[in-house]
Amino acid sequence: MLYQSKIAGLGSYVPENVVSNEDLSKVMDTNDEWIQERTGIQERRHIKKGDGNSTAVMGMKAAKIALERAKIDKDDIDLIVFATLSPDYYFPGCGVQVQEMLGIDTCPALDVRNQCSGFIYGLSVADQFIKTGMYKNVLLIGSENHSGGLDMTTRGRSVSVIFGDGAGAAVLTRSDDKGQGILSTHLHSEGKHALELSLKGPSTMHWVPELIEENPQEDIPYYPYMNGQFVFKNAVQRFSEVIMEGLKENQLEVGDIDMLIPHQANLRISQFIQKKFKLTDDQVYNNIQKYGNTTAASIPIALTEAWEQGKIKEGDHVVLAAFGSGFTWGSAIIKW
Ligand code: UT7
Repeated sequence: MLYQSKIAGLGSYVPENVVSNEDLSKVMDTNDEWIQERTGIQERRHIKKGDGNSTAVMGMKAAKIALERAKIDKDDIDLIVFATLSPDYYFPGCGVQVQEMLGIDTCPALDVRNQCSGFIYGLSVADQFIKTGMYKNVLLIGSENHSGGLDMTTRGRSVSVIFGDGAGAAVLTRSDDKGQGILSTHLHSEGKHALELSLKGPSTMHWVPELIEENPQEDIPYYPYMNGQFVFKNAVQRFSEVIMEGLKENQLEVGDIDMLIPHQANLRISQFIQKKFKLTDDQVYNNIQKYGNTTAASIPIALTEAWEQGKIKEGDHVVLAAFGSGFTWGSAIIKW
């Protein structure tokens, strides 16, 4: 390893439009009690038609804040990495859109498709480029417009009540201090469970007329599908494993964690991990109550908020962990 990378600036953005559990119960057969009891979610944000937001636009807004806080000029960005499962276009990716919106000239822009683990996969990519010395400054974004593609009827309720819109961003830069910054990242995937949490189409294999013809009305595959309980069971196992893997790699113990930021999939999953590792409320940051599950955006939004609230201090060991569709999962161990 030639260099170390560190997070120099963080930013987040969520649309203004708040959608409460009560609001959802007006359009589908659900209720506040079920949603809070099973997921911990109280409200989430949805893009409102005409508010100008999209996955790329929200990503750009979060990126502007991160760049300002990092005190790094947009023209000094060597690479843009954009993680999302809900891009504005089938192609090209959101990375090039943000590049254009920010007025960055011709740096490379890469889109990452790793769903809930997208930010950690992106962080790992950014870290490797900085470590080898190829790039100095990387802009990493996680952003999702879930509301643009959810089944907002009772048929889709087990998925639609969970997901929300938003974006988070981090600027990574080269650090001279080898003991500070991203200490390690750990990535995994298991493709045999690909369809347990998936959106089949529209895609080259499943174009819209075929989708409608092939499938009975009650199972429309142009909305996301999730085998909830199966995903839940795998999530708690993989979260625990990948956190331990990261700690071990750095000769750290669970007690050395100053702040754990788990991907905000379900408050029950975070609470399970917290209990298992015997962490206090101050050692785990959750905000799913306010935003729902924002997939690739959830970790950078939570990390930004925890940092803004002064919950992360220099020298702290910060652990990020995620699990999601693919299945994919990962962790990052950071010395702040
Ligand atoms: O971010 C990527 C990773 N994602 C995750 O880790 C999510 C993992 N899974 C979960 O969080 C949970 O499985 C869910 C929150 C999705 C679902 O909770 P659950 O306790 O597993 O509920 P269930 O799917 O077993 O459904 C229980 C009941 C069913 O009714 P019956 O069959 O018992 O009569 C559902 O039809 O709850 C019903 N139900 C609802 N009721 C009211 C499902 N969705 C709703 C709803 N409102 N929104």
